[in-house]
Amino acid sequence: MADALKIGIAGLGTVGSSLVRILGERANELARTCGRPITITAVSARDKSRDRGVDLSAIQWFDSAVDMANSADIDVFVELMGGAEGAADQSVRAALSRGLHVVTANKALLARCGVELAVMAEDKGALLNYEAAVAGGIPVIKALRESLTGNTVSRVYGIMNGTCNYILTRMEKEGLSFEACLKEAQRLGYAEADPTFDIEGNDTAHKLAILTTLAFGTQIAADEIYLEGISNISIEDIQAAADLGYRIKLLGVALRTDTGIEQRVHPTMVPHDSVIAQVDGVTNAVAIESDILGELLMVGPGAGGNATASAVLGDIADIAKSRPGAQRVPVLGNPAASLAPYTRAQMQSHEGGYFIRLTVLDRAGVFADVATRMADNGISLESIVQRAKGSEADSGSKTIILVTHATTEQSIRKAVDAIKSGTYLAGEPQVIRIERPKAF
Ligand SMILES: NC(=O)c1ccc[n+]([C@@H]2O[C@H](COP(=O)([O-])OP(=O)(O)OC[C@H]3O[C@@H](n4cnc5c(N)ncnc54)[C@H](OP(=O)(O)O)[C@@H]3O)[C@@H](O)[C@H]2O)c1
Repeated sequence: MADALKIGIAGLGTVGSSLVRILGERANELARTCGRPITITAVSARDKSRDRGVDLSAIQWFDSAVDMANSADIDVFVELMGGAEGAADQSVRAALSRGLHVVTANKALLARCGVELAVMAEDKGALLNYEAAVAGGIPVIKALRESLTGNTVSRVYGIMNGTCNYILTRMEKEGLSFEACLKEAQRLGYAEADPTFDIEGNDTAHKLAILTTLAFGTQIAADEIYLEGISNISIEDIQAAADLGYRIKLLGVALRTDTGIEQRVHPTMVPHDSVIAQVDGVTNAVAIESDILGELLMVGPGAGGNATASAVLGDIADIAKSRPGAQRVPVLGNPAASLAPYTRAQMQSHEGGYFIRLTVLDRAGVFADVATRMADNGISLESIVQRAKGSEADSGSKTIILVTHATTEQSIRKAVDAIKSGTYLAGEPQVIRIERPKAF
């Protein structure tokens, strides 16, 4: 049997400690599958005294991940600390400069400087693997980077944040407010004490930026993503969506258009009978539409120690099986130096259906005026309904809900501005884009 693959793990939290445990429990199977043992020779975290439920006594400890990357006797540097800057950034660069292979689950780091890191890795002939960075245990990186080679991808989209999907699912199933569901998610450990990054869509955006690069061969452009979170989704939206045959999901969507690549993260209505609409709770799903294969949909655990460690383990095993000097799969699907500059399709030209919910004063002529504003902007309506329920009727207001046929963002914004210029709105209009899966 070949020499052991020596790995150093920086970060022993949820993912890192699961990885250490699994590598211990599965040592024999892994050695057989990979043709060589995988041995942890170094670890690093902030607090050496913390009990992590795994035996680290025979492993060299580093207080500094950067020191470990610079000097440990390892072949692979596994970065499981997180964060776009600081120790994660410095240690990954140090490891790549030494020509070490790197495995990371860090979407924030890759979204910020993935191309630069890929160039470093490719210059050194090192592997940089990051399956766990997008959708946890779902092997979407491998699918895009390797399995779909030769396909032209037209659209990639998915539910990539378990916290948001959990909150939206609970709101729909229990009829609870956003705030109540967020508190519950925090109590259960699905949401951070500061949940902003998840609920405002930044986490999904980081993952989408990576998928866009793999799907379309462009440079990573996380700052060019149109972003809307779920914090202003109300129970009224969820219920109206359900009445109309839709569910609301936070989707990240990237697609090729005539004018560039559209990247957007926002609450989205998906048809109730589509498979992605049925993806509930913390589960993730990623769909890829391509010309040769057609539509591929992968559903599975997007987070958690075991699921994420499973993806990290797959990346380590790929390195263990690789031969020194062999041709490497480019880190970002295409050689990093050849990635095309990212051209952003303007959001104003986005085409699709829209859901609009208006709270209006209960006056004669309002319904007709709303319909006229839509028609003035060339928007054709799939449905328009009005209703006044309970407290609304008492307060003299009512709700008008519209679902449009495909139109442009520009037309919708003009129509909504025209409605806002009237004197009958009793609340801020809610506008939610509709996304239609092709096959499932
Ligand atoms: N958790 C998930 O379900 C999940 C899913 C997909 C991807 N990821 C990604 O996986 C990575 C790790 O996530 P996690 O949930 O395992 O995080 P975590 O539980 O917060 O653990 C982070 C670990 O990194 C260590 N650390 C932090 N800063 C450090 C520094 N400056 N030097 C050395 N060690 C440092 C911490 O040390 P101490 O323990 O001593 O404080 C801790 O062990 C992140 O990039 C995350 O985005 C996580």
